[in-house]
Amino acid sequence: MQNKIIITIDGYSSCGKSTLAKQLARRLDYVHIDSGAMYRAITLYLLRNDIHLDIEADISKAIENINLSFVKNDFTGTSDMYLNDENVESMIREMLVSERVSDVATHKSVRDFAVAQQRKIGINKGIIMDGRDIGTTVFAHAELKLFMTADVKTRVERRFKEMFAINPMVSLEEVKHNLEMRDYIDSNREISPLRKADDAVVLDNTLLTMDEQLDIALQLAYERIALPMAKN
Ligand code: CDP
Repeated sequence: MQNKIIITIDGYSSCGKSTLAKQLARRLDYVHIDSGAMYRAITLYLLRNDIHLDIEADISKAIENINLSFVKNDFTGTSDMYLNDENVESMIREMLVSERVSDVATHKSVRDFAVAQQRKIGINKGIIMDGRDIGTTVFAHAELKLFMTADVKTRVERRFKEMFAINPMVSLEEVKHNLEMRDYIDSNREISPLRKADDAVVLDNTLLTMDEQLDIALQLAYERIALPMAKN
């Protein structure tokens, strides 16, 4: 039987981490987990329940009432994020959540809660998880770590297209501001800031097509799958 490995994909906002993760998952028949969706779902819960986003004790208490799960969507073939048994997949992508998620993700109780679940999901390997701290904190011993980048202009254009399809009222300026603000908060927070892990492979996809980036990542994955299992 083939070795199952853990693949981590970290990087700045909107550089195509989830797209690549989904492609890889399909090709390798692995599970894809979008860790950002968990932080977004937690943020949605806190906003809906009027929890103060800067009071750690209130957040920590509120989290006790949150149950997160990923449920396969037979129509799209990917997993949807469920918050307390409600499908919140599209709601968590709205600007209201994007505006607050990075602040929420700075809190220790939020990170402890999310990381514990992420590690549990990865226990049997055969998983591709994308986010900000997956290669540095969640799976520091992963067999393959990718760190994705793309220039800001490209990232803003990509995210604007996605957001515009959902809400034509959104402006390019708003999207750019949100992306830069989140990159700043994510890179400068105290706990598990966004960093390239020392042993991560950098993948700049500014000028790559989706097929080209998949080929590069698949090649790296196949090399690692042939290696003996690493301890986690
Ligand atoms: O899709 P996009 O790259 O814009 O963001 P996301 O992956 O949905 O993540 C949303 C936010 O969650 C990020 O800006 C981070 O603040 C936070 N996050 C995190 O702190 N750690 C992770 N492993 C994943 C996301």
